[in-house]
Amino acid sequence: MNVILVAAECAPWSKTGGLGDVVGDLPKALARRGHRVMVVVPKYGNYLEAKEVGVLKRYKVDGQDFEVRYHHAYIDSVDFVFIESAAFRHIGNDIYGGNRRDVWKRMILFCKAAVEIPWYVPCGGACYGDGNLVFIANDWHTSLLPVYLQAYYRNNGLMIYARSVLVVHNIAHQGRGPLEDFSCLNLPDHYVDLFKIYDPVGGEHLNMFAAGLKCADRVVTVSHGYAWELKTSEGGWGLDRIIKEIDWKFQGIVNGINTKIWNPKFDSHLTFDGYTNYDLETLQVGKAQCKAALQRELGLPVRDDVPIIAFIGRLDGQKGIDLIADAMHWFVGKDLQLVMLGTGRADLEYMLRKFQNEHPNKVRAWVGFSVELAHRITAGADVLLMPSRFEPCGLNQLYAMMYGTVPVVHAVGGLRDTVQQYDPFSETGLGWTFDTAESHKMIDAVSHCLRTYQNHRESWEALQVRGMLQDFSWDNAAQQYEQVLVAAKYQW
Ligand code: GLC
Repeated sequence: MNVILVAAECAPWSKTGGLGDVVGDLPKALARRGHRVMVVVPKYGNYLEAKEVGVLKRYKVDGQDFEVRYHHAYIDSVDFVFIESAAFRHIGNDIYGGNRRDVWKRMILFCKAAVEIPWYVPCGGACYGDGNLVFIANDWHTSLLPVYLQAYYRNNGLMIYARSVLVVHNIAHQGRGPLEDFSCLNLPDHYVDLFKIYDPVGGEHLNMFAAGLKCADRVVTVSHGYAWELKTSEGGWGLDRIIKEIDWKFQGIVNGINTKIWNPKFDSHLTFDGYTNYDLETLQVGKAQCKAALQRELGLPVRDDVPIIAFIGRLDGQKGIDLIADAMHWFVGKDLQLVMLGTGRADLEYMLRKFQNEHPNKVRAWVGFSVELAHRITAGADVLLMPSRFEPCGLNQLYAMMYGTVPVVHAVGGLRDTVQQYDPFSETGLGWTFDTAESHKMIDAVSHCLRTYQNHRESWEALQVRGMLQDFSWDNAAQQYEQVLVAAKYQW
């Protein structure tokens, strides 16, 4: 099959979160299964490995003409195509930054250009064409692609055979805008109904995600738990009714991870000062060495008997960092070290810095975005804490388990799917879970975890090994995506 994955970000070139990782890895796994796969993303920077294709197109958005050029790189059997335009230049990593209307215009332009790529951009000497073609769009940013495909290409007979799948990574961001902005979308008037949503707070408005969900041939979300939550009024963020209506084309598939990059045996970030690579055989020695190196790097007392609890993530309401803040008095009263890495809301950043200043021997807050440090914390910590209020899939808990770091998570979305609660009687499970996003529940779960860490060493080590033996590779998920692509193609 010919598959074209279209998204606003793709690691390693552009990434603000897990979406970028998925877009970087899923296509390679699909290519390994024998499909011809292209990834289309905006060109936000200077990507040296990509060469200009020599095709020039023009698209109009909201009355303004944009020239569009294409750059191409063939990596791991995947065609990566970067769309260059004045609208994306100088965006850097602030992919969703700027005023709402500007972000909309960028996404409109991007989707207009992306949907025609199979005709115009030759990869390996040939275009993808529309026969046997399925687009995979991702989140609200590319929700317009299934809509344009339906409105201008399939129904008008130009791309009768092309199909589309929309992947929901996070429903909390929907691409909402005022009704009068419908004119920027260049769609037939009656299409407005696909976008209209009534919201008790914002009133009637346009909603990109709603239209994409209705027009896509199949919809996937990134875990089974999240697929269920999206149909509830708490988890659907106003789109639950629409999602219930399209239940027949809706499915959960847990994301995989890149087991080359996230693998303690080969991790290049562990060749740094004092760290070491390790695997199942050398787990205890290797992890102890990484822990000491992490304590040194972060300026914490170097002690192997004190557990390191880590948090890695965006500092916002979703990730539940405020639960950790509420529990700070409890953490600092224990003999443990708390390491937090992330950026986000200024008030939360300030708060973490304050905790660090007050408890320099126990708390380390690294405010910023550092891929290297994320790897080293994952290797050196004993426990990874993820108190997310909601988590469509979550990748950090999967990375943690690969490194023998035990997760303690709020049991929602993908966290519920991937971290089974430890049971000391049957010696099964992969970590600790708590069922409501409240700090006392989190404290309970962390206390149980620490009791096992301190008093039941054998059970702890067995837990670490079980985590490391899990198969989180993309191959499994890619196989399930393939079934969805086939279903979209043949409308099963
Ligand atoms: C979003 C979700 C996260 C998921 C990622 C990749 O960032 O918040 O849970 O892992 O997308 O699908």
